[in-house]
Amino acid sequence: MKRAVLIALAALLGAAAVFAPYSGPAASGLRWFGYTLLAWATTWPARRFTWGRALVAVGLVWALRAWSLHNPPAAAAEAWWALLAALVGPVLAYFTTPRGYDPHFDLVVPWVYGHLARRTHGARPQTLLRFAAVEAHHRVLDVGGGAGRTARHMEHARQVVVLDPSPFMLAEARKRPRLHPVQGFAERLPFPAATFDRVIIVDALHHMRGQEDALREAWRVLAPRGRLILEEPNPAHPVGRAIALGERLLGMPSRFQTPEALAAQFPQARVQVEKDAWRAWVVVEKP
Ligand SMILES: C[S@@+](CC[C@H](N)C(=O)[O-])C[C@H]1O[C@@H](n2cnc3c(N)ncnc32)[C@H](O)[C@@H]1O
Repeated sequence: MKRAVLIALAALLGAAAVFAPYSGPAASGLRWFGYTLLAWATTWPARRFTWGRALVAVGLVWALRAWSLHNPPAAAAEAWWALLAALVGPVLAYFTTPRGYDPHFDLVVPWVYGHLARRTHGARPQTLLRFAAVEAHHRVLDVGGGAGRTARHMEHARQVVVLDPSPFMLAEARKRPRLHPVQGFAERLPFPAATFDRVIIVDALHHMRGQEDALREAWRVLAPRGRLILEEPNPAHPVGRAIALGERLLGMPSRFQTPEALAAQFPQARVQVEKDAWRAWVVVEKP
């Protein structure tokens, strides 16, 4: 209901801005704002980019406006603003739709990680692979696996699932026939208990809103005698602190935990912690 009220209010405000009896210097900006609000209202909440509805709604309102103007050149000039609004509105709708994860992962980050995944294909994440010791009969889950930068080094396994909530992050992983991309959240994994022999979370835990739920879920889907491997920047190290500061400056809602704090969340299991210059690995064996 709240959602319907918000959409109705935006549509009304949009229509008011389009039909306002104002012809001053900011008139074009006002019309554009109005058409954009209409385009937003007809496409929000948006799980994907979709322009069809916005084009129809804005087109109809523009036609009504052109008819009321009785001024073909002015109506034609306004058509460009309307068209621009019909293109921008759905994009704004996509990015203002609550999605439960940091929206940075729908913006520039997928491009960076897609590039990294392709460029670093030869550069093996040695420490992680040593801990994971993935064998051909294993089923592997990469939680928050994004572009598949790490998972692509495990393609010899029986099954490698890359789970990520961002369709943009998953786009690169989709290009690898041996990887199985799944759109979903770490906090509620869409798999039965004891499904995977290896569960890895690389450079992703600090981005998750429900970190404790994510760890509980990772543990649930891990099979007996399976191994959970967490790789995170170490916030106790100056480089780790610089990463945390950089993410905060970018407006990312990251929350970092020390490897010791992560290890303490598995009192029932054998846990090993390893650190290098600035990263830490927490390896948990399920009995
Ligand atoms: C910095 S990227 C790392 C991607 C990949 N693990 C790697 O090392 O290349 C962090 C990833 O965590 C994902 N992520 C954020 N919140 C998440 C959540 N709640 N559940 C699962 N993944 C999440 C993001 O979409 C993003 O792909």
